[in-house]
Formats: sequence, structure tokens, C-alpha cells
Amino acid sequence: MSDFSVRLLRSDEDRAATDVFRRALHVKEMTDEEWAAIASSMQPDRGFGAFDPELIGAVRSFDTEVTLPGGGTTPLAAVSLVGVRADRTRRGVLTALMRAQFEDLADRGCPAAMLHASEGAIYGRFGYGIAARGKSIEVDRHRARLRPEVPAGGEISLLGLEDTIAQWPSLFDALPRTRPGMIARTPHLWPGYERDVRRANGPTATAVHRGPDGVDGYVTYIVERAHFGAPSILKILSFHHASPDAFAGLWRHLLSVDLVDRITAEKRPLDEPVELLFADLRQVTVQKIQDEGWLRLVDVATMLDARTYQGEPIVIEVRDPFLEHNSGRYRLSSDGAARTTDPADLAVDADTLSMLYLGGWRASDLAVAGRVRATGESALDRADQLFSTRVNSWCGTFF
Ligand SMILES: CC(C)(COP(=O)(O)OP(=O)(O)OC[C@H]1O[C@@H](n2cnc3c(N)ncnc32)[C@H](O)[C@@H]1OP(=O)(O)O)[C@@H](O)C(=O)NCCC(=O)NCCS
Repeated sequence: MSDFSVRLLRSDEDRAATDVFRRALHVKEMTDEEWAAIASSMQPDRGFGAFDPELIGAVRSFDTEVTLPGGGTTPLAAVSLVGVRADRTRRGVLTALMRAQFEDLADRGCPAAMLHASEGAIYGRFGYGIAARGKSIEVDRHRARLRPEVPAGGEISLLGLEDTIAQWPSLFDALPRTRPGMIARTPHLWPGYERDVRRANGPTATAVHRGPDGVDGYVTYIVERAHFGAPSILKILSFHHASPDAFAGLWRHLLSVDLVDRITAEKRPLDEPVELLFADLRQVTVQKIQDEGWLRLVDVATMLDARTYQGEPIVIEVRDPFLEHNSGRYRLSSDGAARTTDPADLAVDADTLSMLYLGGWRASDLAVAGRVRATGESALDRADQLFSTRVNSWCGTFF
């Protein structure tokens, strides 16, 4: 391991740290104008840098909260801007940054962290697991016909770019975050979203749906117009709704937009039933399924007790080499979770526990891959039941 040290970043180092991240992702360094647009998204005292003595790597987070199975919420660190200079990789810099960040979260009583990963092979070793996945879909607008039973929906009004930017926070905050894994959008998120739509490849529009009780959904999209015979594509950037009426009404609107050949959306909830709206289900194709939210239970005892469970109890053994204090046995039941010395019904590593935690995967499926080690079928059945959730996990917010 080379000689470097890790410490909290000062605010006047945030720009350099962001550029370390951008260079690591092969993105050009920021102009003064770009930095001015996003500087306010840096929550103070949430960045860590590695120095040798130059800044060679960084990681940061902002404070938010996440919805848990059962409907409760808990504080969460949304981790982002992770990067190490290309001439200093593979010598433990990220490992040291991750350790410093987890220690800081533990000191501040923040029990969990979430991130979106650039690559699938980086974060498992640090105890992060894929807790939520999303599907990318494409709809053939010319062939897709709604079924006659699909709700008519309410009133739609359309916002342009400036109104979208002004109203986004209140629109998002007005809707319930019902899926396990959904996070609150804090002021640290919006500057980046604003920058992205301002430099998007087409005009931004937001369709707002009003039901009997007021606003209950919105969809933000851009349309990339065809050139030389290529299809025109309506790209959904954000789609949130609180009722089946709003879901159907917003899709009716999307289908009604002229000069569009295809409608696409990325990383939608796996169980979002878009295809069921259509007479011919084949007019919706799933292009890919990807990891969406990676979760880390920083304080396993607190997090296991914070969600709800249904069904027969189990004892689960957790192995957490990166945060050793989490290792041990926990009894899970409809009364909650507590440490125990009872024999374990199943054993998992910390990253696999994260995959189970929001109900994103079944223990019996993870057992097929050897990631859950169980005493028998009955233990797996009970684990499947205990961790199951009414709707699929989904973060729904990129950061
Ligand atoms: C990913 C990145 C931050 C890793 O930093 P790093 O300082 O090289 O990581 P470490 O040296 O601490 O690596 C720890 C372990 O993870 C492994 N690892 C790190 N990055 C990996 C990757 N991209 N793929 C596979 N394994 C990886 C290392 O080989 C090492 O394994 P070992 O302990 O068995 O030797 C760095 O490569 C980077 O900046 N990449 C480009 C930007 C990026 O993808 N950032 C993440 C955004 S979500």
C-alpha cells in the first residue's frame, strides 16, 4: 500500500474532489459556470479525500431518509462522487475512503448507506448489495393501443423547462414514497437535475396529473426528434404517481404526444405493470434489467429492527468482515429483530443481507447461488416469507 492519508474535505476542496471523480469517469473537468451550477449540491462535512499529499481520491454523501419494508423510514447516507485518480488505483485508496465514511456514519448514528454503482464488481467487498433493480422499457407508440378498461385519468397540465425546475421539488414531495428503497429528495439533489435538463438534447416537459384530491402524479420527459429517418424518441426522465388513475392518465398523455415513434424509460420498478395497459402486451419490450440501488447496512442490528416482518421467526447469522462489529446472530420475527446466541437457521455475508433487506431478492434464490446457506428448506421458506414485501424495492432517484 502506498503512503496516503484520508481526511474530511474542506469546502474549498469540493471542486477539486468533484473533478477527481469526473476524470475517473472520463468526463471533462468542470467550467466555472458548471461548478457554480452545482456547488450548492455539496453538503458540508460529507466529503472525504485521500491525499499523498495531492488529492488522489474522494467520496462523498448527503443526508436523506429511505423508506423501509412496512412503511417506516430511517436516516440514510446517499453516497456519490466516488473516484480515485487513475495513477493511484488498486492500492487501497477506495478501501480507506470507504472505511472513513462508514466510521463517520456510525459516529453520527446514520445506520445505512446507498449508492448507484458504475460497475458491478466494486462494492460487494465493502458490504454493499444490490437491494433494488430496475427495468428499461420501450413502447412502440404507433402500435400500442390502450385496453378499454384502462382508467380515463384526470386533468393533465403541461409545464415547460423553467416551471419544471421550479416545481419539481414540490411535485416530488407531494407524492408518497411507498416503495422500499425510495429516498427523500433533499436540496442537494436538485442542482444536478437542473443542470442535466438544461443541457439535455431536447426541450423538457412535465405533465402534471390532477385527480379528485389534487396533484397525484407527474412525468418529466424530453423528445429527441428524428433526423434522416431515425425514430423520434420520447425519453421519460422521471415518473411518479400515487394512484392507478394517475398512472393510466399519465401514460395516456405520453401516447398522445405527436411526432413520437417510441417511448423509453430506464430503471423503472420491476413490477410496474406498464404492459398491462395495452391490448397487445408485446408493444412494451423490456430492454434490460439492471442493478439500481446498492444498500449497505452500516448498523445491522438497528436496521434489522427498523423494518417489519411477517411469518415464522428465523435466526440469521451475519458475517461482516469489513464492519466486524455487525457479525453475529439475529433473531427476526414479527416482533422485530434482536441479537441472539441461538443456533442459526441461515447464514449470509453482509452484501447478501443487503440484497434480502428491502425484499429485492428471495433467500431461496440466493441459496441456489450459494449466497444464503440454510439448514434446510423450511428455513428458506420462512426467510422468503419474512423478508417479502408487498411491492418491489426501488430507489427511483439517481444521485
Ligand atoms: C472504482 C475505484 C474507485 C476503485 O478505487 P481503488 O482505489 O482502485 O480501489 P481499492 O484499491 O481500494 O480496491 C479494493 C479492492 O477492490 C478491487 N476493485 C476496485 N475497483 C474495482 C473494479 N472497478 N473492478 C473490479 N475490482 C475492483 C481491487 O482490485 C481491490 O481488490 P483486492 O482487495 O482483492 O486487491 C477506481 O477504480 C475508480 O475511480 N474507477 C473509475 C470511477 C468509478 O467507477 N467510480 C465509482 C463510481 S460509482
